[in-house]
Amino acid sequence: MADQKSVNITWHEGAVTRDERQKLLNQKGVTVWMTGLSASGKSTIACILEQMLLHKGKSAYRLDGDNVRFGLNKDPKSLMEKSGYSEDAAKRFGVGFSTDDRMENIRRIGEVARLFADAGVIAITSFISPYRKDRDAVRAACKPGEFIEVYVNVSLEAAEARDPKGLYKKARAGELKGFTGIDDPYEAPVKPEIIIDTEATPAEKAAEQILAYLERGGYLVA
Ligand code: ADX
Repeated sequence: MADQKSVNITWHEGAVTRDERQKLLNQKGVTVWMTGLSASGKSTIACILEQMLLHKGKSAYRLDGDNVRFGLNKDPKSLMEKSGYSEDAAKRFGVGFSTDDRMENIRRIGEVARLFADAGVIAITSFISPYRKDRDAVRAACKPGEFIEVYVNVSLEAAEARDPKGLYKKARAGELKGFTGIDDPYEAPVKPEIIIDTEATPAEKAAEQILAYLERGGYLVA
């Protein structure tokens, strides 16, 4: 069992309520969590949705898989070479693609999304988030109704045919190990709030589908 490092900490309530923040923005803070294989279209849909919301005068912010790995969840090598961490610290805090690393990736993003939602913002996340239990842990940490799971469904064949970064090809050639869908698992959601079939739905339509869900659910008013 790991030692407990932070003791004697207490939660502080601020003077501004969440309700007040939401009234100011005339919307409700929520996390729209997209999950799906690499090249399923998560990031494309997230970009369009973010723009649609902003054009409606709503505050939305996108957290994207690849982008977050350049910053908050850097890999150990970057932490060591660019950020000056010791080898030991870099190994402990850096994030790669092992099962544990993906768990930590998703946990941190979940926490960040929750902070955005608490600030009244619509947080849109696009991570493969392949493990059901990791996604469920984020859901469990959110208040009821404040986690909307969007399954961006695509067949492996279609994702592989798209292969915009050439990573499926590398994985098939054995040059990239532990690639989701090839030699690493993807666990599809059991009861997502929204399912998008990206092979039959253009990204624009998919974003509209999510927007309609937010409108119907009363998220776009305080
Ligand atoms: S997750 O599994 O931890 O949720 P995340 O969404 O952050 O993954 O990052 C996925 C992106 O990293 C992919 O779109 C791809 O560009 C890149 N990538 C590099 N290595 C892998 C790998 N082994 N498995 C999946 N994606 C990878």
